Amino acid sequence: MNNPQNRPLQTDFNTVFGNDLDYPRLGNVTFRRGTLTPNQEALFAEHWPRLGAELADARLDIDAWFGRRGAKTIVEIGSGTGTSTAAMAPLEADTNIIAVELYKPGLAKLLGAVVRGEIPNIRMVRGDGMEVLMRMIAPESLDGIRVFFPDPWPKARHHKRRIIQSGPLNLFASRLKKGGVLHVATDHAEYAEWINELTDVEPALEFKGWPWPECPQLTDRQVITKFEGKGLDKDHVISEYLWEKK
Ligand SMILES: C[S@@+](CC[C@H](N)C(=O)[O-])C[C@H]1O[C@@H](n2cnc3c(N)ncnc32)[C@H](O)[C@@H]1O
Repeated sequence: MNNPQNRPLQTDFNTVFGNDLDYPRLGNVTFRRGTLTPNQEALFAEHWPRLGAELADARLDIDAWFGRRGAKTIVEIGSGTGTSTAAMAPLEADTNIIAVELYKPGLAKLLGAVVRGEIPNIRMVRGDGMEVLMRMIAPESLDGIRVFFPDPWPKARHHKRRIIQSGPLNLFASRLKKGGVLHVATDHAEYAEWINELTDVEPALEFKGWPWPECPQLTDRQVITKFEGKGLDKDHVISEYLWEKK
């Protein structure tokens, strides 16, 4: 868990949890940089200290950060440019949304949307979602975890980079409260087949399929992607998955 030479924090999950589950090997992904426009730099300088945080080896004080006590909290991993994050949050105003992303220009877009739209219930963390959950989020504390359109890593030799694997599912389950919801969506047919093989691998998660009408939280992503609009193209069928923490 050391951080020599300012390398990104990387947990050896198998050792820490004493298991032999599969965890993503991120390769160089964790070093993803990204340049901001001057406007985005100015936006960051003004608003990031209040609305954003960097991956750190310290638990977030979620009540203090959102300025309210005991609200439900959902973490979205890999929020990208935050299009669905910003569209969903106003419909779940009673819920704290923490968007986690490695890609700074994406966070800058979401930050812009949050500031312009005065969306009060979104905060952002820059870092690897696995490490953020591990270090910054207490066990059994989340009402939901979302992973929308994770990088599909289509080449066989890159499959081990996929974020949906037995290890992350175990980590997600550990951070969810009983009754908490994991929501995953992909438009990649082969990744969907991969996830289909993993639906029942984590004993603490009950697979609910899709749709799950009684799901206790918002599951409509609001944003119609260009692929969804076409609808007929088999390669871009959207597959959605819901699990409930037992
Ligand atoms: C294909 S994009 C999807 C973005 C967004 N969810 C959407 O639906 O438009 C996947 C995103 O996940 C981010 N990502 C990949 N691995 C991550 C990790 N370990 N932690 C946080 N973000 C990650 C990437 O930087 C990328 O922005």
